[in-house]
Amino acid sequence: MTIPNPGHLDQAGRVIMLSGANRGIGAVIAKRLRQDGYLLSLGARALENMAEQAGENCLCHAFDAFDPESPKAWADATFARFGRIDGLINNAGIAAAFGFEDGDEADLDRMLEVNLKAPYRLICAALPHLKAAGSGRIVTVTSMAGMRFKRGSPGYAMSKFAAMGLNSAARAQFWDDGIRVTAVAPGPVNTDMMPQGFTAETATQPETIADIIATVIAMPNNASVASVPINAVFEPLP
Ligand SMILES: NC(=O)c1ccc[n+]([C@@H]2O[C@H](COP(=O)([O-])OP(=O)(O)OC[C@H]3O[C@@H](n4cnc5c(N)ncnc54)[C@H](OP(=O)(O)O)[C@@H]3O)[C@@H](O)[C@H]2O)c1
Repeated sequence: MTIPNPGHLDQAGRVIMLSGANRGIGAVIAKRLRQDGYLLSLGARALENMAEQAGENCLCHAFDAFDPESPKAWADATFARFGRIDGLINNAGIAAAFGFEDGDEADLDRMLEVNLKAPYRLICAALPHLKAAGSGRIVTVTSMAGMRFKRGSPGYAMSKFAAMGLNSAARAQFWDDGIRVTAVAPGPVNTDMMPQGFTAETATQPETIADIIATVIAMPNNASVASVPINAVFEPLP
């Protein structure tokens, strides 16, 4: 028998959309949320690697951040399949070199498309259902690079600072609808995107990021965090 716990939402029957679910942090989040008992709608470009995940409790659907029609098609398919959407995790992201004196502006456009505009479009597409849920959750995986600039690609930082702005605006605008919005902002994480200078041992593990996201989306409406910075090295917090 499950004992009701007012400290977190009951996961049973809650439907979570997760972008970039095929590898890296997203694949680990998917595994964790599946264990927690959520119904999952996993969005990815490469669905052929995800066939074994699909089933009664999991929809795998095409999501390409470069296609402006893709967010609505995915959200519509999620609602058609499960009849509700309780949460959206904007995880898909890209990093490319782009600076003031080097780089191709097309790379900046690509980062803005994937790291900012696609999350915005996904929020819009899921919004009516998140409002209807009464306890909708939006998490965007931003970055420490979106809270302060230290090193690396200025263009990536610009796209992640913009994603923090998206979070901040959505958090304020949809609070009264019961939607709680959180930016989860990692430093270096042990995936293909891990920055130079870190190793599998010194970077944060994707499982730790998944733990944090699992906690955030299970928090009730009367407990909400705006952002969770996570670092693998010491630095004064932004
Ligand atoms: N790893 C780090 O050090 C670190 C630090 C701070 C923040 N982050 C953020 O964490 C998130 C996950 O990154 P990660 O470390 O897991 O990186 P990753 O291993 O490179 O995975 C990136 C994910 O995003 C997806 N993606 C990229 N472009 C896409 C597009 N156009 N449409 C749909 N999906 C797309 C990828 O799918 P494909 O397989 O199709 O490319 C993949 O699933 C990103 O937002 C990233 O900026 C990472």
